[in-house]
Amino acid sequence: MHQNQHSSPATTRPEPNRAFSIAPMMDWTDRHYRYFARLITRHALLYTEMVTTGAVIHGDRTRFLGFNPEEHPLALQLGGSNAAELAQCAALAEQASFAEVNLNVGCPSDRVQNNMIGACLMGHPQVVADGVKAMRDACTIPVTVKHRIGINGRDSYAELCDFVGQVHEAGCTTFAVHARIAILEGLSPKENRDIPPLKYDVVHQLKKDFPQLEILLNGGLTDLNVMQQHLAELDGVMVGREAYHNPYMMAEVDQRFFGDDTPPLSRLEVMAQMRPYIARHIEQGGVMNHVTRHILGLFQGLPGARHFRRQLSSAIHQTDQPLALYDQLLEDMTQRLQPRDCEPQPA
Ligand SMILES: Cc1cc2nc3c(=O)[nH]c(=O)nc-3n(C[C@H](O)[C@H](O)[C@H](O)COP(=O)(O)O)c2cc1C
Repeated sequence: MHQNQHSSPATTRPEPNRAFSIAPMMDWTDRHYRYFARLITRHALLYTEMVTTGAVIHGDRTRFLGFNPEEHPLALQLGGSNAAELAQCAALAEQASFAEVNLNVGCPSDRVQNNMIGACLMGHPQVVADGVKAMRDACTIPVTVKHRIGINGRDSYAELCDFVGQVHEAGCTTFAVHARIAILEGLSPKENRDIPPLKYDVVHQLKKDFPQLEILLNGGLTDLNVMQQHLAELDGVMVGREAYHNPYMMAEVDQRFFGDDTPPLSRLEVMAQMRPYIARHIEQGGVMNHVTRHILGLFQGLPGARHFRRQLSSAIHQTDQPLALYDQLLEDMTQRLQPRDCEPQPA
């Protein structure tokens, strides 16, 4: 699907298939969520939470770059703008065997803006282009960019094309586009994910004007049929909140987006397969809730969903035997659902 337009330096690793990816989400797409998501879909491309270049360079590398091999294919998302630091982190990403390194040009948080990270960089295409070029020179894995369709004060289509054009010139051929602008003053990051209107047509136009680029659509996608319709013109979809709150929606992804007809695990099988992972985490001194907080939506829309959520969000804090609670919950859910577990999601 993807053709690399730039011959030097070459991306020598195979490009991951980006037909369907799970968006990077701070505090949400940590390694525990990713392990869980991977049980539901073998093929969706997963992203880490954003990690700043400063954290990678000066912080605990095992924490920021470590992952379970089962999570592959997995991309590292970086936040930063200093070309030398981005280059250093891209090289480390390759060493750590990430399938891709992605630059965040979409996050609107104030904390992040003060450091010239995230969406504010849409106002500085040359800085992004320099960063991308430095990253490409430093590694052979694909370097991609996630961005918005604009920021306040710089939200025309011509400016978007200028941004994409300059970053493409620097060697980036894959763009994950959150189809709304970011408003850098006055809106919280959460409001910035809901209030500026979604403009999918802008992303479709971008693909028409840059047909040689791989363009992934992000923002507000919840329905797999609608996503597949977008793929008639675009190269991939990237899903964030829906994949987190309603994770079993990912069960149809392998078949629909990657042509893999292997039957997905049922919800109960997913829950059972999380059990050894949770036990290992506890053995290593971890807390069960750090894993299970990510699976609260597993039974969304089915009988027992509320019981499941409650047990894992409240009862879990009142027991000193969390694994026993988990085992009991697996039994409860098995009783409630076994015959209905594989029914399709309500629309
Ligand atoms: C809790 C949360 C954290 C997020 N953190 C990041 C991040 O670290 N990097 C990033 O590029 N986008 C981040 N985003 C934005 C998502 O990647 C995505 O662009 C946005 O949620 C729109 O997609 P959706 O409507 O499918 O959720 C975050 C979103 C949420 C909800």
